[in-house]
Amino acid sequence: MLISSPMNDALNEQIGNEFAASLQYVSVAAYFDNESLPVLARHFYKQAEEEREHAMRFVKYVVDAGGQVQIPAMPAARSGFESVADAVQLALDSELKVTRQINGLMDLAISERDHLATSILQWFVNEQLEEVSSMETLLKMVQRAGESGLLFVESYLQQKGPVSPDAVEIATS
Ligand SMILES: [Fe+2]
Ligand SMILES: [Fe+2]
Repeated sequence: MLISSPMNDALNEQIGNEFAASLQYVSVAAYFDNESLPVLARHFYKQAEEEREHAMRFVKYVVDAGGQVQIPAMPAARSGFESVADAVQLALDSELKVTRQINGLMDLAISERDHLATSILQWFVNEQLEEVSSMETLLKMVQRAGESGLLFVESYLQQKGPVSPDAVEIATS
């Protein structure tokens, strides 16, 4: 077994956090779908899939390292948003919270001199830079556009896709 019991517990908690983020993004995407904002909806359905992939990365690591996967209970996702900006603000707050959680895991890995976990977690540390910065960009765009300018945000997202790392790769290749 390559992970300590405290690290195993902390990673199980993070598996729950990532699945909870995935469910929260499904809820945000469904709200955009209801509001007839299909590009924003698609963007958040995709984010939800990415969060599930994050959870599965941790699942695979815990299994590979000989630990026990125990998925915790998670809070209900929030729904019923007041505005598009409100929903995107929630997503940004969620990304900032996950960043703190990942940093906490990294602190634990360093204190335990767990080099394997440190290496796995470094990917997540880098990923959070992208996640927070793209969500901040999206929030600023939505705030600037206002409710009447949301179709502009939709077409901008569709054409340029600056908030999607994949789109940036395509645009620059
Ligand atoms: Fe994540
Ligand atoms: Fe995320």
